[in-house]
Amino acid sequence: MTTKIIMDTDPGIDDAAALTMAINNPSLDLKLITTVAGNVTVDKTTANALKIVHFFGKDIPVAAGAEQPLIKPFEDAARIHGESGMPGYDFGTDYGKPIDKSAVEALRDAIMAEDEVVLVPTGSYTNIALLFSEYPEVKSHIKQIVAMGGSFSGGNMTSAAEFNVFTDPDAAKIMYNAGVPIVTVGLDVTLKALLTADTIEKLGKLNKTGEMLHGLITHYNDGSDAGRPMHDVNTIFYLLHPEAFTTKDMWVDVQTDGPAIGATVGDVRAAYHDGKTNAKVCLDIDADAFNKWFLEEVSKIK
Ligand code: RIB
Ligand code: CA
Repeated sequence: MTTKIIMDTDPGIDDAAALTMAINNPSLDLKLITTVAGNVTVDKTTANALKIVHFFGKDIPVAAGAEQPLIKPFEDAARIHGESGMPGYDFGTDYGKPIDKSAVEALRDAIMAEDEVVLVPTGSYTNIALLFSEYPEVKSHIKQIVAMGGSFSGGNMTSAAEFNVFTDPDAAKIMYNAGVPIVTVGLDVTLKALLTADTIEKLGKLNKTGEMLHGLITHYNDGSDAGRPMHDVNTIFYLLHPEAFTTKDMWVDVQTDGPAIGATVGDVRAAYHDGKTNAKVCLDIDADAFNKWFLEEVSKIK
């Protein structure tokens, strides 16, 4: 039994690794990839998504999405992911084109074609917010949203805010208040499951996919000597191995203005929302299991 998923992405080096895992795992059926401005501009995130699909010789539609956040001015992360968004490997120039539909139209059509699908956003949530605003009927076809983003232990853009939510806090607020079950895969776990230098070195010697990912990751400016955070890959790891995570159900909301703009705020004592929850928040992860799984998954790719 495969799980039908749709990924909304801003490749981005860790997005590229997450797409790699989703495309190649037999338990997952990736029906559509949509792109959004985030790590780099949407023309580049779209080209990068196409490069990954073409690298694996797959026929997965890619639809381009929002060029700007809903309200907040766009600010990229090229300082982390390079000007192209995916430096360090030559994907060539013949990697196809996006489909002739907007991300929102493609999302609506793909979701309504399924009884149940999992939505995996790994960039800002602008496309998701626009989708729910324009086509609310899709919500009943979404089993859950497994979203990379947010933090309950400090941010990476400010002390309060994580990049995906900081990029479009208004979209994040819409998503968290949409009434669709959410799994929050935030910095609380992605900054623990660091790819170690040993894992990265082994990756480069595994196979063609390992060589490609090694090229990208060695040009990735996130992390430290302790290791490189593969933020977005943790969404796929959660889908396949939820047992590796410690989670807590809580009500999560988003700060959309002021100095803490983009902060995700959890009702950790269930004290202020009549006991209601809207998210399963990942608070801990088996980091060794993540490193082992990452290498094993790539080694299986022919
Ligand atoms: O904060 C990490 C997130 O921001 C990841 O999705 C990374 O790709 C960047 O988009
Ligand atoms: Ca991303």
